[in-house]
Amino acid sequence: MVKQSTRILIADDEEEFRFMLKYFLETAGYDIDLVSDGVQAINMLQTKAFDIALLDIKMPKVNGVDVLKFIKENLQNIDVVMLTGVGDIRIAIDCMKSGAYEFLTKPYSATELHRTIKKIIEKQTLLRENQLIKAELLRIAGSTEIIGSSPNFKKVLDISLKIAPTESTILIQGASGTGKELVASFIYKNSDRADKPFVALNCASIPDTLIESELFGHERGAFTDARSMKQGLVELAGNGTLFLDEIGDISPLIQPKLLRFIQSGEFRRVGGNAVLKSDVRIISATNKDLVEEVKQGRFREDLLYRLNVITIEMPTLKERKEDIPRLVEFFLTKKLKMKVRKQLSPAAMEVLIKYDWPGNVRELENMIERAAILSRDDLIQPYDLSLPLRSSNLLQNLEQSGLIGSHVPIKDVEKTHIEGVLKSLQNNKAEAAKILGISLKTLYTKIQQYQIKVE
Ligand SMILES: Nc1ncnc2c1ncn2[C@@H]1O[C@H](COP(=O)(O)OP(=O)(O)OP(=O)(O)O)[C@@H](O)[C@H]1O
Ligand SMILES: [Mg+2]
Repeated sequence: MVKQSTRILIADDEEEFRFMLKYFLETAGYDIDLVSDGVQAINMLQTKAFDIALLDIKMPKVNGVDVLKFIKENLQNIDVVMLTGVGDIRIAIDCMKSGAYEFLTKPYSATELHRTIKKIIEKQTLLRENQLIKAELLRIAGSTEIIGSSPNFKKVLDISLKIAPTESTILIQGASGTGKELVASFIYKNSDRADKPFVALNCASIPDTLIESELFGHERGAFTDARSMKQGLVELAGNGTLFLDEIGDISPLIQPKLLRFIQSGEFRRVGGNAVLKSDVRIISATNKDLVEEVKQGRFREDLLYRLNVITIEMPTLKERKEDIPRLVEFFLTKKLKMKVRKQLSPAAMEVLIKYDWPGNVRELENMIERAAILSRDDLIQPYDLSLPLRSSNLLQNLEQSGLIGSHVPIKDVEKTHIEGVLKSLQNNKAEAAKILGISLKTLYTKIQQYQIKVE
């Protein structure tokens, strides 16, 4: 079937010939534009998008060869077919060398022309699909930027860049939410395999019974549900990269099979006899201490030594607090794609910097997302951040500061505290009352009583 929107430019100085072509190709469902010389062709090419150009070689002013050059230099997506008289075959062959897709010698049949056009359309469709697949693979591999310039995180980036182009197996170890998956895709994108597939398997989320067939595939009838042959991820990844997430949770039953595969590059599909090969590079990640897992007998030592040829230790967010402001900015501006740009008040930023972040970057990201959606103003305030145990955490800080128990009257403490809260909220009394746990009326009374200045 003809793709309706294929746009073809025909440049030919013989009027009759042009109109005949136009008639024929329009009837076949293409979108046609006609020009009668090379100058018009170049002008037209600059004002309208085309998929294919049919160029006569001999034309007045600028000939077809020069139009071809213009297209190859400026409009690489257009495929060019040269239309040539018998005497110009030598030139036509040169045109092929300069990038023309095909040449047709006049007189050619309509069928011949149509076949060439269909071949081009097929090629262009494939190319587009390939680009789509590539884009999709990139998306799956995570297209997000990596933020971090603190010394602790720079170490991670430096080692990642150094080992990316090697073939080494890599283990990324770190607490939950520290960015292990992001670093894995960062390594992949900077590796020599960046144009090959990146496939990920979360070993914790797949039942033991299925993990082998996920990894290595199965033959038809290998088990009750195996109605057709299925390729496993090591096969699909080909000579790409396989990311084994949560490797610490992989079943002891699979561990020897995985070990054998890493050692030899060979595997069998479940229920199959043929020995297959795959040259996949393995990056794995875990939040478990695998040395401890080995000691406990839950993880094979020989597998660990195969996986951790190079180990990357992810710092916790607490160990790289310098990165918090830029991470917040990144989440607010780039990642959340909110219609209204929101910002963090200095007081809110201070709260974030003081917090310990047990859930690391993921917790920060979630908190910023929630605050950005829920905050009424464009400036996010401390009370918009639903920090767990926020007040008790602060109280703990206060206690540690030694200020609690100083010899001051309670009313002075109360006055200073109310002043501080009001200031941090730009004197928003309703919010201040909420945070102080008193009614708005009581707050007004206290403002008067202590003669607190609020505009
Ligand atoms: N340095 C960073 N820059 C930008 N975003 C980051 C960074 N580190 C982590 N993130 C974001 O934080 C979230 C958690 O990261 P990721 O999934 O890579 O962590 P993880 O260590 O694999 O976590 P888990 O152990 O829970 O699987 C993701 O949305 C990721 O994009
Ligand atoms: Mg992860």
